[in-house]
Amino acid sequence: MKKSIYTLLVLLFVVSCQKTVDLDNDKEEFINDLISKMTLAEKAGQMNQYNGFWDATGPMPEGDYQKKRYNELKNGQVGSMLNVIGVDEIRALQKIAVEETRLGIPLIFGHDVIHGYKTIFPIPLAESSSWDLDLMEKSARVAATEASADGLNWTFAPMVDISRDARWGRVMEGAGEDPYLGSLVAKARVHGFQGDNLNDINTIVACAKHFAGYGFSEAGRDYNTTDFNQYTLHNTIMPPFKAAVDAGVRTFMNSFNTLDEIPATGHKHIQRDILKRDWSFDGFIVSDWGSIDQMIPHGFARDGKHAAELAVLAGSDMDMESSLYVSQLVGLVESGNIAEELLNDAVRRILRVKYELGLFEDPYKYCNKERSDSELASEENMSVALDAAKKSIVLLKNNNQLLPLQKEGEKIAIIGPLANDKNSPLGNWRSQAVYNSASSVVEGMKKYKGNRTVFEKGVDLYYGKTNFHNRVKINYDDKSDFGKAKFAAATSDIVVMVLGEEGNQSGEGRSRTNIGLPGLQLELLKEISKINNNIVLVVMSGRPLDLSWEDENIPAIVQAWHLGSKSGDAIAQVLYGDYNPSGKLTMSFPRNVGQVPVYYNFKNTGRPSTSIEQVTNSGYADVENSPLYSFGHGLSYTNFSYSNFSVDSDKLGFDSKINVSVKLENTGFYKGKEVVQLYIRDIVGSIARPMKELKGFKIVELAPGESEIINFEIDSSLLEFYTYNNKWEAEVGKFHVFIGGDSNVTEFKEFYLD
Ligand code: GLC
Repeated sequence: MKKSIYTLLVLLFVVSCQKTVDLDNDKEEFINDLISKMTLAEKAGQMNQYNGFWDATGPMPEGDYQKKRYNELKNGQVGSMLNVIGVDEIRALQKIAVEETRLGIPLIFGHDVIHGYKTIFPIPLAESSSWDLDLMEKSARVAATEASADGLNWTFAPMVDISRDARWGRVMEGAGEDPYLGSLVAKARVHGFQGDNLNDINTIVACAKHFAGYGFSEAGRDYNTTDFNQYTLHNTIMPPFKAAVDAGVRTFMNSFNTLDEIPATGHKHIQRDILKRDWSFDGFIVSDWGSIDQMIPHGFARDGKHAAELAVLAGSDMDMESSLYVSQLVGLVESGNIAEELLNDAVRRILRVKYELGLFEDPYKYCNKERSDSELASEENMSVALDAAKKSIVLLKNNNQLLPLQKEGEKIAIIGPLANDKNSPLGNWRSQAVYNSASSVVEGMKKYKGNRTVFEKGVDLYYGKTNFHNRVKINYDDKSDFGKAKFAAATSDIVVMVLGEEGNQSGEGRSRTNIGLPGLQLELLKEISKINNNIVLVVMSGRPLDLSWEDENIPAIVQAWHLGSKSGDAIAQVLYGDYNPSGKLTMSFPRNVGQVPVYYNFKNTGRPSTSIEQVTNSGYADVENSPLYSFGHGLSYTNFSYSNFSVDSDKLGFDSKINVSVKLENTGFYKGKEVVQLYIRDIVGSIARPMKELKGFKIVELAPGESEIINFEIDSSLLEFYTYNNKWEAEVGKFHVFIGGDSNVTEFKEFYLD
C-alpha cells in the first residue's frame, strides 16, 4: 500500500514536471510518437549504456558476456555506448542500432573528453588558474571539434565539483575551491562543448558532473561518504551545477558518494526536486560507472532489482554499466513496483537529446573519416593548447628576480625526472593523446640556443609505463643518479629543477595522504640546494602539493601543473620571459596536509586566531591558519600597485548599485596581466558567513608605467545566498568590499544594504 502511494506521488510529480514547456513541437511530437511504439524492453534499453565491448569492425564478439550485450544491441536494448573510439567502430555499432533493430533508434556515443581529445590541454585545475573564460571556452570548443570529428557526440565534462581537499586526486579535474569562479568556468566550458546549436557537426553534448558533493569526499578519500549541511550544499556545491543548467547543459552525471547518507544515484531530492523541478532541467541524468549497482555495497539497496527501482524512482535516467535497468525495469513495471510513466519520462529525455544532436536525421553525421584525419591534433589546435598552457602557469615565488632567465650566456643545469618526461604533462584524462607526445621542458628550453644547458634526471620518480588503471610504481630507494645531478649543479650558474607528480598520480582513484613531492625528489632537491641554490623549481602536479620546505629554501617556484601537449614549450617561454606569467591559484596550497581542508572563504569562528601563540583561539600550535599560497595568489615578472580604492556610496538599496573602483598601475619593467579580484564580506547573516567571497574579477594588461581605473558594480544580487529561510536572498546589513590581486587583500570599504 505504502509503496503504491509513494509511486503515485512520484508519478504525479513527474507528470507535473512535464510542463508544457515551449519546446519545438515537432521534436516533442516525434518523440512521443516514437515512445508510443516502443515496447517496455526497448524503453529499458534506451536507459542502458554499455562501455565499448568488442571491436565491431573486427570478428564477432566472443564469450557469453559480450554475446549477451551484442544481442541486446541488436534487440534495441542499448541506448548509448561509451569509450568507443574511432569513426569506423562508431559507424559499425551505429549501423547495428539503426539498421538491424526494430525501431532503428540511433545510439549516442559518450567519452571523457575532459581536457582535450587528441590535442591535450592543461588539466582543468590548471586552466582555471588562467581565469581566462574565453580561453577555457575555446579549449573546450577545440576538444569538441576533435571528438566530434572522430564520431563522438557526448562528453562527460565539465566536472564542476568544488573541492577544498588536496588529498583528493580529482581536484585536477575541477576549477578549484570557489563557487563564483566555478560557476563561470562551468558556463564557459558548457558553451565550448555545446556551441550554439547541438545540430552542428562540431558540437557535442556536455555533462555537468558529479551531481552532487563528490568533491567533499571525507578525508579526501575517493568515493568516500560526505558530511555537509544544506547551506554548504546550496551555497558552495550547487552554484556551478545551476550555472551549467543556465548555460544549457543537456546532461548530468550523478556521483558515487552519499549525501545526507543517501547515495546520489538514489537521491530523489537533488535529482527530481532540485534539478528537474526547481531548475526545470529537461535533459537526462546518467549514473556514474556502476553507481546504481553500488547502492548495494552502500547498504542502501537489497539487490540489483531494488537498486534499479530506487534509482529510477529518484530520477536517474540512464544506467552506465550496471546492466540493471536493462535487466530489471521490465519486471519492475510488470509487477507494479514502478509506473511505466517513469520510463517514458526518462526515455523522453534521452530521445530529446538525440533529436537535438540531429541523430535521427542522420545517425552517421559524426562518422566522417576525412574530418577525422584533418581535425585531430592540427597545428591550429596545438597553438590553442600552447596559449592555454602558458596562461595556466602560476609564478608562486621569485626572490632575487632569478626569473626570467637570461637568454644568453648562462650555463643552466636542468635537473629532475619530470624535465624530460613527455608523458606526465598529458595528465590523468588524456583520451586519445599519443603516449609520450607532450613537449618536455628539456625540449622547450633547448629551443633557446643562447644558453648552455645540460640535463641530468637526478633520480627516477617512477618505473615503467603508467596507465589509468594501475598505481604508479614510485622509486623510494635508488639514488644512483644523484651524483651526476650534483656535478651538473656544481658546474652551472642556474639550476632548473623539474619535480612533482607523474601524470597518473592525481586524477580518479588517486587520493594521497602525503601531498609532498613524491619519492626521492625532495631529498634530491635538498642535496642540490646545498651545492647551488640558484634554483628555479618547476612543480608539475595535478593538485596543490605541500611545498613548505621548498618555499622556505628555494628562491623561485613555478607551478606548472600538467599542462598538456605543449607543456615544455609553454614552461620554457615563461622561464625565459617570452610570456610573463599571469596565472592565479584557484585552490589554496596548504602548509602541510594537516591543514586540509584549507580555503580562503572560511568562517571566522567564535574565537578567530591570528597567531599560533593564542592558545585558546581557533588555531594550531605548530602552523598558522593561513595556507602557504592563497586562493588568487600568482606573481608576475612586473609589479602592480593598487591605489585610489573608493566606493561612490556606502548605501545600497535592493534596486540600486554601488560603483567600486581602484587605480591599477604597472610599476615594473615588463608588460603584464593582472587578475584584479573583487571580494565581499557579509558581516552578519542568518547563518555564519565566509570571511570573503569572490564576486568579480577582471584581467587587465598594462605596459610598464601604464595605469587604469578598474570599476566594478555591486547590486544586491551579488549579496544573495541560501539563507536560514532556505531560500536565495540578500539580507540587509553591513558589508565590506575588497579589491586586490589575491584573497589576502585586507583593505576594505564599508557599505550597508537596506
Ligand atoms: C568514471 C568517472 C566519471 C567518468 C565515467 C566514465 O568512473 O567517475 O567521471 O565520466 O566513469 O568514464
